[in-house]
Parts: sequence; structure tokens; C-alpha cells
Amino acid sequence: MDKQVVIDNEQELEEYMSVPHNETVELMKKLDGDILILGIGGKMGPTLGNLAVKALKKAGVRKKVIGVSRFSDIESRNKLENLGITCIQCDLLNQEEVRQLPKVKNIIYMAGRKFGLRGTDYLYWGMNTIAPSYTADYFSDSNIVVFSTGNVYNFWPCDSPGPNETDPAVPYGEYSNSCLGRERVFEYYSREKGTKILLYRLNYAIDLRYGVLFEIGKQVNEGRPVNIEMGYANVIWQGDANNIALRCLEHVSSPPEILNVTGDKIRIRDIAARFGEIMKKEPVFEGKESSTALLSDNSKMKKFMGEPRISLDQMLQMTAEWIQSGGKSLEKPTHFQTRDGQYLD
Ligand SMILES: NC(=O)c1ccc[n+]([C@@H]2O[C@H](COP(=O)([O-])OP(=O)(O)OC[C@H]3O[C@@H](n4cnc5c(N)ncnc54)[C@H](OP(=O)(O)O)[C@@H]3O)[C@@H](O)[C@H]2O)c1
Repeated sequence: MDKQVVIDNEQELEEYMSVPHNETVELMKKLDGDILILGIGGKMGPTLGNLAVKALKKAGVRKKVIGVSRFSDIESRNKLENLGITCIQCDLLNQEEVRQLPKVKNIIYMAGRKFGLRGTDYLYWGMNTIAPSYTADYFSDSNIVVFSTGNVYNFWPCDSPGPNETDPAVPYGEYSNSCLGRERVFEYYSREKGTKILLYRLNYAIDLRYGVLFEIGKQVNEGRPVNIEMGYANVIWQGDANNIALRCLEHVSSPPEILNVTGDKIRIRDIAARFGEIMKKEPVFEGKESSTALLSDNSKMKKFMGEPRISLDQMLQMTAEWIQSGGKSLEKPTHFQTRDGQYLD
């Protein structure tokens, strides 16, 4: 049984999500060069930046952690500066601005456009292919971990472990196709210029303020029906995902390495039932489980990185506690239930 961790507020949550693993600290001792995080202003970037700062401190190493974003949210910039991260405002779709960024050896590329309004599909392609092109061209001497998504695979049979890195990427819908576009643009530069890259295919990070578990937990708590047509998914604690992202800097290569990053497959019905037990509520279901789902085989990740540190039950307990005590929501739905390829906000 896992030790129960109780998180009372956002500050405690952010600290907990940015605890460095020993392997991350060891990596910092031998890493050559500073760290640049592109697209730091989103849901995962601030805790990744904080994690990098803490790992460097624990390793006793002096390096810069630089965060780049448009900083649409100015508050987030101030918070990052206070953590010891040097912030640079830059629109990665502006090539002149990209060319003024400092050349840094280690890059985590997290920028992207996720979901939008009907009729704005072209924005996916702009953000997910043009910005990668400016970045990869300018930083061709750097090592780059590129955040991508398990959406580049199509639905896979639920009675299988899901697609692994050697399976074909056949994305469904414009968003997912643009994400494969992001990968292919980086791959192009990697093969043409020898840039060392790792394509980090993430399936659903778990924060307590957003994510697949948060959404299901909220529905159970409020007595709303849980749709089980997308019957399975893969999730991973954001702190584990971020530690792995930094450690991926050791696994970059040309042509690019590919890594599925996620936890073991979970059944949505079972997750809702477990929330029901913890919250003492009876879950209500709607829909019929499909025979396929968006899945990801994490065997290679476990071989490279070991098991995620935070178990599913621990994530469930923390999420239930967070929801029942009225914890904040980022109001950023994952749309993990989507089956028609259209991720609309
Ligand atoms: N979170 C997940 O569960 C999950 C799952 C699968 C894949 N991913 C991928 O992982 C990456 C990080 O995830 P996330 O959840 O943190 O994403 P996110 O919340 O969408 O954050 C990405 C950030 O990139 C910045 N950005 C967007 N356009 C930019 C531009 N033109 N120039 C500079 N910065 C720009 C934005 O911050 P500013 O507004 O400050 O510029 C944005 O908040 C994303 O690429 C996402 O596709 C995430």
C-alpha cells in the first residue's frame, strides 16, 4: 500500500510535482551545457522548469535554466523568475525572434497548439509544423527532446498492450496529423543536419487540476454520467513525466529516438468505480465500451527509465481528496473521450 500523500494547495502540488528523481540529479552532474525550455508557459512547463532548477541545486551544479514562451499569462512569468528560471518572451512563429534566442545545448520543446474552435485547423499546422521548422533549423547543434503525443497512433484494440514505437503512426483527425507533422519536421532536420533528437510521445499527464483522472473523479463526485465509449487510456503522474523528459536528454539520437511515455493501460469503468469507493458515491455510466482506444505500449520507457514512481492508486487518492476539498480546476479538458478526431474546445 502506498503512503498516502495529502496535498492541500496549489503550492504544495507544484512542489510535489517537481521533486527530482535521483537519476535526474545524476544526469545534471554530467550534462554539458544549459537547459532551454521552449513553450514553458503551459500546463507542464512551469513544474518542469522548477524540477530542472531543483535537480541542478541538488547536484551542486551551476547551470542556467531558461524558459521561453509568449507568456500570455504574465503571472506565470513572474512565478518562474522567482524560482530561478531566466524567462525570455518569444513567439516561436516569428523567425526573427527565434533567431535572437541564446544557442543552448539542451532543449526541451514543449510548445504546441492543442485544441481549438471549428474552422481553425490551419492553426494546428502553423504552430505544430512552422514553429518546429524555425526551431530545428536554428538549434541544429543542440540536443532536443520534442514533446509529442500518443495521438500520432490511431485507435488500437483494447485487448492489446497498445502500439509501440515500431508501429506505424497513422493519426486520425487534423490535430493528430499536425502532431505527426511536428515530429516529421524535427526528423527532417535531424536526418539532414545530424541534430540529436528524441520524440517524446506522451499519453495524458496527471496533475490534480486537470487530466483524465480529474475529469472522471469530478463526474463521479457530482453524480454526472461517465462516458465509457473510450473504454481505456494511459496516464502518468506529471512529476514522473517531467523527470523522464529531462532524462531523455541522454537518449537523443540522429535519426531521432522515439519513446512512448505513460503509465500502464487503465480501464475507465474501473477508475470510476474506484473513485466511487473512495468518495462513497455510486458512479453512473453512459455509452458502450468500444473495442479500440487510444493506447500506448510503455515497455520501452520502463526499460530505459524504470517504473513511474507514483502509482495509479496514489494518483486516485490524491485526486479524490483534491476534488472533495474543492481544489482548483485549470478548466482545460483533455478531450480524451474524443473518437471522431475533432478535439474542439
Ligand atoms: N499535458 C498532457 O497531458 C499532454 C499529453 C500529450 C501531449 N502533450 C504535449 O506536451 C506539450 C506540453 O504539454 P502542456 O500540457 O504543457 O501544453 P500546453 O498547456 O498547451 O502548453 C504549451 C505552451 O506553449 C506555449 N506556446 C504556444 N504557442 C507558442 C508560440 N507561438 N510561441 C511560444 N510559445 C508558445 C504556450 O504558452 P504561452 O501562451 O505562454 O506562449 C502554451 O501554454 C504540448 O506540446 C502537448 O501537445 C501534453
